[in-house]
Amino acid sequence: MIDYVKLTHLVAAIVWMGGMAFMLMALRPAATALLQLPERMLLMEAVWRRFFPMVMVSIVVLFATGTNLYTTTFRAMRIANGQGSVPVGWNVMLVLGLLMMLIFGHIFFSGYAKFKRAQAVQGWQLASQSVAQIHTLMMVNFLLGWLALFAVRLLR
Ligand code: HEM
Repeated sequence: MIDYVKLTHLVAAIVWMGGMAFMLMALRPAATALLQLPERMLLMEAVWRRFFPMVMVSIVVLFATGTNLYTTTFRAMRIANGQGSVPVGWNVMLVLGLLMMLIFGHIFFSGYAKFKRAQAVQGWQLASQSVAQIHTLMMVNFLLGWLALFAVRLLR
């Protein structure tokens, strides 16, 4: 059972991290190089409208499976040797994972909401500022994601 939980956790991480990698390193630079401002904003809207719900599902899955993996092991350790403990890297992943989720909340409820409002009235300059803000926060989340991965694999 735990193998399925871990696999599901891994799949959700791949969807979120892979999506961010594609967005930051392929889609946005290509759109900036090839498209004028209004078209670029329309493209980003069409992309995020599809990508952000996928991130939300990934977050729910990561949180549910991550806390399950954590608490299952914690309880097993308590039964086995009287005290519950998990590797340091797991605590780092818990904290960084929660931080990533909060940052995504900020991206969605602040940056993306501002972007959509600006786009609705064709305020392209304002929309492009929100895109830059979203891009920066997404970059932070991408780096935190890598740190969480290194931590869970390398810190015992
Ligand atoms: C509340 C948030 C999270 C919690 C509580 C959590 C917890 C855990 C735990 C307990 C493990 C098992 C480690 C092991 O068995 O060695 C794990 C593995 C993993 N986590 Fe998370 N995690 C969270 C968020 C995330 C996020 C946001 C990502 C994406 C970057 C992520 C990616 C992974 C990956 C790829 C593994 C597999 C590592 C392996 O194969 O050993 N997790 N996580």
